[in-house]
Amino acid sequence: MDEKYSLAKRILEKYNQLHVLKGYNLLSEKSKEKLLDQILKLDFETVKSIYDNKDSIGVIDRNIIQPIDVIDKEEIDEEIKNECIKIGENIIYNNQYAVVIMAGGQGTRLGHNGPKGTYMLDITPAKSIFEILIDRFKEAKEKYGVVIPCYIMTSRDNYDATLEFFEQHEYFDYPSNAIKFFNQEELPMLDSDGKIILEELDLIKEGANGNGGVFGSLYRNGILDEMNNAGISWIFISGVDNILANIIDPLFLGLTINANCPIASKSIKKRAPEEKAGVFCIKNGKKVIVNYNEISDEMSRKKDEKGNLLYGDINIVSHLFSIDSLYQIINEKLPYHADYKKCNYINSLGTKVIATEPNAFKFETYIFDSFEFFEDMLIYRVKREDEFAPIKNAQGEDSPHTAKELYLKRRCF
Ligand code: UD1
Repeated sequence: MDEKYSLAKRILEKYNQLHVLKGYNLLSEKSKEKLLDQILKLDFETVKSIYDNKDSIGVIDRNIIQPIDVIDKEEIDEEIKNECIKIGENIIYNNQYAVVIMAGGQGTRLGHNGPKGTYMLDITPAKSIFEILIDRFKEAKEKYGVVIPCYIMTSRDNYDATLEFFEQHEYFDYPSNAIKFFNQEELPMLDSDGKIILEELDLIKEGANGNGGVFGSLYRNGILDEMNNAGISWIFISGVDNILANIIDPLFLGLTINANCPIASKSIKKRAPEEKAGVFCIKNGKKVIVNYNEISDEMSRKKDEKGNLLYGDINIVSHLFSIDSLYQIINEKLPYHADYKKCNYINSLGTKVIATEPNAFKFETYIFDSFEFFEDMLIYRVKREDEFAPIKNAQGEDSPHTAKELYLKRRCF
């Protein structure tokens, strides 16, 4: 233990974080060990570099952004459509398709106590978000006679509750061995001076590393290799909060393969310039998504000669990756985006402080920043009412109320 302590102390000194040990002498032997283990597993060099570079991502210079062309589902020739559906279905029939659902987000805005996927939608019969998504797999099993594997990414905080929920509901009658869970990784949260925040005297505050963490977590949990060994060639990655997500879509798959693109993403038309969503555009010659806070108001409002928003295609977190593209991404570095938020902490007197103002940086990578690593990708515009019913806020837009209406319209013919 003494050795561990000295090593941890040396590291903290080097990175100017010695305050982490301020309550060490007050801790039980077990808590001391827990804290030292946490310190020793942290990559301080990375944390320091993320903090030092936190101001490098801001509103993007408008000169490097251009509008983008997308493939609109409504405008695809029927013959090509049928051909592409066949190509996509072939992949599904041959057990080469898998789905990853990213369910590691915090769901703070929804105010739901528990993993977001466990939120019960007030329909008849009542269904959780998870059940609604698993329904899609069951429909595909019926249609194609194939059990499509489903991988669910959780955070440290909601892993147990997610697993328990699936156990309790007997995996919604889908083969339980086809649904697997894996944890995403975390990063320490820092105050405005770059100091690590303590959640408890024996616990450094860490937060999920953003949905871009999905790549490293798939790899380090052995899932990428598992999929590769099983012959999976295409992986659809979706957010958990869209109950109309069309996660098994042979046309999308076929179009992507037909276009010879290693990755693809679905878009919908932006509701209004103010809609808080990532927009598709060309940046430095590459097809990308920039988040709503990285594009100026002026650019958000710009229209073309037909009166359409120039940057009017938004991200619905429905992305498709070939297995090779995933192996390529894990060798690249995604940029970190800093979010300054409220975070309760232990102060220098050892007492818990409830934050009333933003006081801590949370660092996240975004899944769509990986698009820049590729020369080309397919962007496929679908209809909002067909494929996008997000549950993000407790009330108002993108709430359970609006999602339920959209779901009932679309799903009850
Ligand atoms: C996201 C998109 C935004 C898009 C909008 C559409 C990102 C970064 N932003 O915004 O471009 O227009 O949806 O609704 O993709 N997640 C994790 N782990 C994390 C963080 C998030 O699994 O650490 C999951 C969430 O559970 C969710 C998805 O990623 O399913 C997106 O969540 P979030 O990062 O909160 O982005 P939004 O603000 O919803």
